Amino acid sequence: MTDENAGYQNAQSGEPLALEKRVEEADGRRFSPSTGRNKDIVRDTFLEVMPRQGRVLEIASGTGEHGVHITAVAHDLNWTYSDIDPVSQASQLAWRNHVSHDRLDGPMTVDTTHADWGDVEKAAPWNGMFCANMIHIAPFSAAEGLLAGAGRLLAPGGRLMLYGPFARAGEIAPSNARFSEDLQRRDASWGVRDLDLEILPLANAAGLRLATVKAMPANNLSVVLEKG
Ligand SMILES: C[S@@+](CC[C@H](N)C(=O)[O-])C[C@H]1O[C@@H](n2cnc3c(N)ncnc32)[C@H](O)[C@@H]1O
Repeated sequence: MTDENAGYQNAQSGEPLALEKRVEEADGRRFSPSTGRNKDIVRDTFLEVMPRQGRVLEIASGTGEHGVHITAVAHDLNWTYSDIDPVSQASQLAWRNHVSHDRLDGPMTVDTTHADWGDVEKAAPWNGMFCANMIHIAPFSAAEGLLAGAGRLLAPGGRLMLYGPFARAGEIAPSNARFSEDLQRRDASWGVRDLDLEILPLANAAGLRLATVKAMPANNLSVVLEKG
């Protein structure tokens, strides 16, 4: 493995897309330290609250580790990677080539700030969507587009799982408040979102109801929204 000290940036804009250094294998598979820490609990929560059969679209797949980890135990699940970042997509493809099963697809290109998600629209309806650690590291329009896209492209009864830090009805854990301030110093359009005040109104407008909220380590939440 080589330590990737060059940072992690959008190939087109040069803007930073992730906040930590990544490690890369010779075959292109990348590893995120934070994903390494949370992937077991995220997988176990996914298995509890999300469909275990059918087709799941992952938004903002990053290194691709969540999809590998979940499909290793969910044998009836087909998982499609997507991202806006070619460097991340290369890692997702490398993970797809690495595994011995054929239930990883993509990577597709989805920018949730766009109203049309291209080929992903044609592949709808999806049984599930999964998005970890994206909506606070992107402009609010990315959250708006994500919720609208889930409402548009999920099958009836299909679920969207969000994982990451949130505020709740104006209350925010001190560690998340510090994190949000740090994000906003990097980019004023980033920041930890308020589940009740900002995200659930978007969900309601998109025809999604709150199915469950699970507390996760380090003041994170898993939020599950279901299409009516
Ligand atoms: C912090 S990383 C999280 C990666 C992965 N979900 C995880 O938890 O390990 C944020 C990801 O969001 C992606 N991203 C940022 N803005 C996006 C947008 N508007 N639409 C889709 N993906 C986006 C980045 O390319 C990056 O892969």
